[in-house]
Amino acid sequence: MQRDATRIEWIGNSCRLLKATATEFEKTQPFAGLTIGTGIHLEPKTVALLMTLKAGGARLVCTGNLNSTQPSTVEFLRSQEITVFATQTTDPVAHHKSLEAVVAESPDLLLDNGGDLFAIAAEAPYAGLLGGTEETTSGRTRLLPMREKLNMPILVINDSPIKQFAENKHAVGQSLFESYMRFTNRSTNGKRVTVFGYGACGKGTAACFRNAFSTVSVVDIDPVTALEAHLDGFSTPLRNEAIASADVLVTVTGFPAIVTAADLPLIKDGAILMNGGHFPHEIDVAAFRQHPEVVRIDRYEADHIETLHLRDGRSFHILGGGHMANLAGPRPLGNSVESMDLGFTLQARCLERVARREVGAESCIVPVPRDIDAMVASAYLDMAR
Ligand SMILES: NC(=O)c1ccc[n+]([C@@H]2O[C@H](COP(=O)([O-])OP(=O)(O)OC[C@H]3O[C@@H](n4cnc5c(N)ncnc54)[C@H](O)[C@@H]3O)[C@@H](O)[C@H]2O)c1
Repeated sequence: MQRDATRIEWIGNSCRLLKATATEFEKTQPFAGLTIGTGIHLEPKTVALLMTLKAGGARLVCTGNLNSTQPSTVEFLRSQEITVFATQTTDPVAHHKSLEAVVAESPDLLLDNGGDLFAIAAEAPYAGLLGGTEETTSGRTRLLPMREKLNMPILVINDSPIKQFAENKHAVGQSLFESYMRFTNRSTNGKRVTVFGYGACGKGTAACFRNAFSTVSVVDIDPVTALEAHLDGFSTPLRNEAIASADVLVTVTGFPAIVTAADLPLIKDGAILMNGGHFPHEIDVAAFRQHPEVVRIDRYEADHIETLHLRDGRSFHILGGGHMANLAGPRPLGNSVESMDLGFTLQARCLERVARREVGAESCIVPVPRDIDAMVASAYLDMAR
């Protein structure tokens, strides 16, 4: 017998840890009677996480992140009676309405990615919010100043060593590299690549391009980290020189205005600019588009590439409008299934702990508890042996 199987099924069946967790949750029902509000990329891997939480008895109210919502994923979730407030949009105002709609449902737990949901809850607190999880570095940085207002357990998945090496280092590196190939269909061999930021994501990105025969430079504002890049064998030129030499320039710092319109005179003819950081503010795309030296912009709509032509004859290209390239553009894959299976199992286990009230307000914006890391690592190794 043959039957048509879907990509969502392929991804779900590849998330072996989540599948095992869902089987356990069906029996233990840690989220029975609770609503979980989620604000995380709506793509097939997230479905595996959301279905695991649903198996644990949760009612789910979901939205995505800016620009990354996949309509087929939304359709599937709705078919599973999951409430979704989300449209595929790059408009922050439209996206904010979806976030507000999720919080308006007064979820008992929040699963956040970038601090969007908790920031709303901090400004307009409501009774019954137990706490939840935050996925990213950028979210942690954003929420820390709101700690006193929040005063509830919020476990930061990004601060787990597993997330750091499995996803940020290995998977984001591979994924940004794959995105460059997917968007452009161009080679990496002999290209000069500059990576801004040598945190976990930057390390993986620099390594993947080097392994693909590019000459890689690294710029990091922290001299200790820049020294690490130097000792890892990357060249570490000063910022302006690194921009001027780049055939491909990747930002992955988590901070705004890494490359701005003031850098226009430096940009090499034919350079490709792409971002891997969470927010689309690392490359100041709007300022580039409006710069008086830009005389024409060619938009390759289907490929999500725009080419900016300058008065002096140079041109350069921006991928995905400066949004996270691995979740933008045609056929975005995102990070590998195995890395997300690990990270999302940490998510499910952390939410379980908050739901069971086993952590209190002293755990506001703290890393994943060590025993959860150990449990998830052991389960993965058992499956790999
Ligand atoms: N694309 C994805 O799928 C994905 C996945 C995980 C994380 N992220 C995002 O990637 C970003 C980086 O994450 P990370 O875990 O590597 O963070 P990190 O904090 O470990 O590293 C960031 C690095 O950027 C450096 N930096 C800061 N400002 C700089 C500047 N002006 N110039 C050069 N370097 C600068 C810092 O010194 C640091 O070494 C974050 O926004 C994070 O949310 C993206």
